[in-house]
Amino acid sequence: MNTGVNTGGVQISRWQTFADPLELQRAATRIVLESAQQAITERGAFRCVLAGGNTPRVLYRSLRTAVADWRAWIIYFGDERCAPAADPSRNSRMASDEWLDHVAIPCRQIYAIPAELGPEPAAASYANTLAGVGTFDLVILGLGEDGHTASLFPGATWEGSTTWPAAIPVHDAPKPPPERVSLSPARLSDALKVVYLVVGADKRDAVAAWRAGAALPASRICPPAGVDILLHL
Ligand code: 6PG
Repeated sequence: MNTGVNTGGVQISRWQTFADPLELQRAATRIVLESAQQAITERGAFRCVLAGGNTPRVLYRSLRTAVADWRAWIIYFGDERCAPAADPSRNSRMASDEWLDHVAIPCRQIYAIPAELGPEPAAASYANTLAGVGTFDLVILGLGEDGHTASLFPGATWEGSTTWPAAIPVHDAPKPPPERVSLSPARLSDALKVVYLVVGADKRDAVAAWRAGAALPASRICPPAGVDILLHL
């Protein structure tokens, strides 16, 4: 299903640099918990999209001991690698190991991308899963050194179109594994709040290009309220 949302708009970006990576992670924890509290108070549920990769591990581990109304949390994933569900390389496996297996979020409210099915069937399945889901309350994203985010890589076929299904198949990803599923720019932009966690000197060039206005995948996420980018480079 095409969301029909064209994220060709200009990204509003707010940059925050942290000298101490632990301070960045503490800020990220605050953002997640405050977003959750507000969403649950106002709408009775907190719909959160998780990032993969390694950077979010510290954040996820910090949430193990958080005091929260976990029954109202609903978890989605921004992307997934095509590997067996229990494979250690899976983003959902990482989030479960670091956090989700340690808190009382109901399993039925954790929506992993069935990437073990392969890119096309998994993207179609997840697009169906998302069909009834409205605006996300919070989307957490990372940044690759080539400017990718989620599994939206530069120069991929998705860049050519202006509308996308909510979830798209990815082949030939330069970051292994080559086969993945990613939420589309449009779907990732349909969020009340989007926060990027960017840690590592290897991201400096991508951040510089992004701040200079380069059309990177990370700059294609254009939620109405803009994006917050937490940096420790
Ligand atoms: C993945 C992620 C990817 C990640 C960036 C940053 O599947 O790897 O979705 O987009 O967020 O590559 O990865 P690090 O946090 O490990 O630097």
